[in-house]
Amino acid sequence: MNFKGQVAVVTGGANGIGRAIALKLADQGAAVMIADTNEDAAMITAAEVKEISGKSAVHKTDVTNPDLCTKLASLTIDSLGPVDILVNNAGIAGSSGWQNRSFSTEADWKLTYQVNVIGMSNVTSAFRAQMHKRRSGRIVNIASIAGREGRPSLPHYSASKAAVISLTQSTALEVAPLNITVNAICPGLLWTSMWEEVGSRYAENNPAYKNMSSRQVFDAMVEEKIPLKKEQTPEDVADAVCFLVSEESRNITGQTLNVDGGFFMR
Ligand SMILES: NC(=O)c1ccc[n+]([C@@H]2O[C@H](COP(=O)([O-])OP(=O)(O)OC[C@H]3O[C@@H](n4cnc5c(N)ncnc54)[C@H](O)[C@@H]3O)[C@@H](O)[C@H]2O)c1
Repeated sequence: MNFKGQVAVVTGGANGIGRAIALKLADQGAAVMIADTNEDAAMITAAEVKEISGKSAVHKTDVTNPDLCTKLASLTIDSLGPVDILVNNAGIAGSSGWQNRSFSTEADWKLTYQVNVIGMSNVTSAFRAQMHKRRSGRIVNIASIAGREGRPSLPHYSASKAAVISLTQSTALEVAPLNITVNAICPGLLWTSMWEEVGSRYAENNPAYKNMSSRQVFDAMVEEKIPLKKEQTPEDVADAVCFLVSEESRNITGQTLNVDGGFFMR
């Protein structure tokens, strides 16, 4: 795949899965804008991208703020050029202290929806005009296997990710006449900082995992749930993103692809 001369934006691109996506896109030649609340980490990732593809930029963006998203879109065009690829990856699992609770609070529901769903819509809306003007564009939304089926742990997170799958289909239908594709990816089990915290909540709430460390819960789940018997990596997700934003996927839109070693086969 070759993205030379193309401009990509990755929200939540400073760390974890977003960072791997940014680096993989850069590896195929893209200039990448890293949009993240964590400006220090974003600067580090942007420097790595620059080493690889020669062009990167950073904007301290909170996706929940529509004005900052509009600013991100104008800054991207000014610093790198009009966007070709948008990866909506920024996501959270709850409001402050969610790791230590066995139930979801109203704040968990509100903030998680604000970031994972409304934030995604804010960023997509901000870049839509640039893509519309050129009648081309590729959007990938990062959902989760948690959105494939309801779960007792973190119901607010699962519901937000189910909403991401639905939002992907609605947006795909809306922008199809403009030759813009929109697809979603459901990552499976990845050992990122988010999962470190998820694991401790599972250990608290599930008798099967009582007294296990977060990593032990993670390994047990990989063994139990993943037919291929291996954890997924940020690079696995980045490879799938590269396919969905490439010319090779020109006739694919509104789809949701699981990158989960066979955890969910639907
Ligand atoms: N780790 C997993 O196992 C897993 C599985 C399925 C889906 N996901 C999804 O993948 C995405 C990335 O997760 P990760 O594991 O890399 O998490 P992470 O916590 O390592 O990284 C998330 C990044 O998003 C940024 N961010 C958070 N809120 C933001 C906001 N309001 N505006 C802009 N940036 C914001 C953070 O600063 C961070 O850099 C998320 O959408 C997550 O829900 C993760």
